Amino acid sequence: MFERKPRTEYESALLDKGKRYMPSGPRNPTRAPQQAIIVKRAHGARIEDCSGNEYVDYLLGSGPMLLGHAHPAIVAAVREALAGGSAYLLAGEACIDLAEQMVEAVPCADKVYFQSTGTEATFFALRLARAYRKRDKILKFEGGYHGMHDYALVSTQWTLAPAEYPHPVANSAGIPASVLGEVLVAPFNDIETTARIVEEHADELAAIIVEPMQRTIPPRDGFLRDLRELTRRLDIPLVFDEVVTGFRLAWGGAQEYYGVVPDLCALGKSVSGGHPIGVVCGRGDIMDCAGPAALMRGEGVLLSGTYSGNPISAVAALACMAELRRPGVYEQLFARGRRLMDGLAAAARESEIPAIISGEPPAFDLWFTAGDLANFRDMLKVDGKRQSRFAELLMDRGVIKAHEKFFVSTVHSDADIDFTIAAARDALRQLAMEG
Ligand SMILES: Cc1ncc(COP(=O)(O)O)c(C=O)c1O
Repeated sequence: MFERKPRTEYESALLDKGKRYMPSGPRNPTRAPQQAIIVKRAHGARIEDCSGNEYVDYLLGSGPMLLGHAHPAIVAAVREALAGGSAYLLAGEACIDLAEQMVEAVPCADKVYFQSTGTEATFFALRLARAYRKRDKILKFEGGYHGMHDYALVSTQWTLAPAEYPHPVANSAGIPASVLGEVLVAPFNDIETTARIVEEHADELAAIIVEPMQRTIPPRDGFLRDLRELTRRLDIPLVFDEVVTGFRLAWGGAQEYYGVVPDLCALGKSVSGGHPIGVVCGRGDIMDCAGPAALMRGEGVLLSGTYSGNPISAVAALACMAELRRPGVYEQLFARGRRLMDGLAAAARESEIPAIISGEPPAFDLWFTAGDLANFRDMLKVDGKRQSRFAELLMDRGVIKAHEKFFVSTVHSDADIDFTIAAARDALRQLAMEG
């Protein structure tokens, strides 16, 4: 039985300092101030705070720790690599090996370029598409998240009041109005409305970017296939943002899992077991817009970054991929995730609180809603207060999750899953009592 220790003076002092020196303060795993923690360390499927509490972790650093924290193979590979220097700007051996393996693994990849974050990967994918198409506008889906750059941070999951399609809503101050003019927005899983917007703006569009599983909403049957056909017919590059789904839903990511191959793909997070990486890869003719011939013509795309392809992230990614390639890894990940999904669904039914499970076994959530979840407007019907309260109650019972996701790792054990289901059952009972 988990009994949460009260916050120590030491942890309180760290939280106070964080608030004093950082504009938004330390990140809180839930929305309640009493749940804020400072992390001491993390290992396997556990994360420990500075007051001595150890939680089963489904936040997983927002996804990258697919193999769990401090995986021994990654720690060993990085430790060895560090002695050889950590940034060359020039490509090292590991970077070249990684490029080759990435092209072999990702169905759409003829060529690949590395960055340090998923944000850079989507940003550069869109820049490549613009150069290829010689057009400026991009289309994204309402509620989809593609990182923090100006073209991405519109009409995401944080939108309180959506605009009429295809108009975007900025999710942050500081995004230029001129950028908003370059972004169109369509509803996920609604190919008719999407096709209408795309056809109307076909001559202005440089790219369509989509999370193949949008947050935890899987694509409806045929949605990605129809989007693929539409974009192919109009020669508009289709960009899959696989920063979450890449190497997680399958070795070949969502493109393999859902059987639809885009023109460009952005990856990050789970590629490198917790070391900063972004990857943009895709069709050779589009990737070659960043090649020497295009640069010589004065039309080339610049894709550089000081830490792009750095040897530490590259070595970590190679070690991570070697682990993921072991036989049975995905079967076990899916079995554990499926068991957790089923256990949470049963616990929700017992509590009689209207809720559904949405997502795929390695990344999903329990959503407090009576309806179906097909797109962002359905998400607006979710009981947000219950959603936050459930996360708080889980934390008091030794479980940490992201606000909008359970990420399952390859090292969550059956015992961890049982513990989590028991904690959720108790949390839901409490939630039902609170009304
Ligand atoms: C689908 C998706 N794309 C892009 C990003 C941005 O990645 P990063 O935080 O590494 O910049 C994220 C991060 O959560 C993401 O979930």
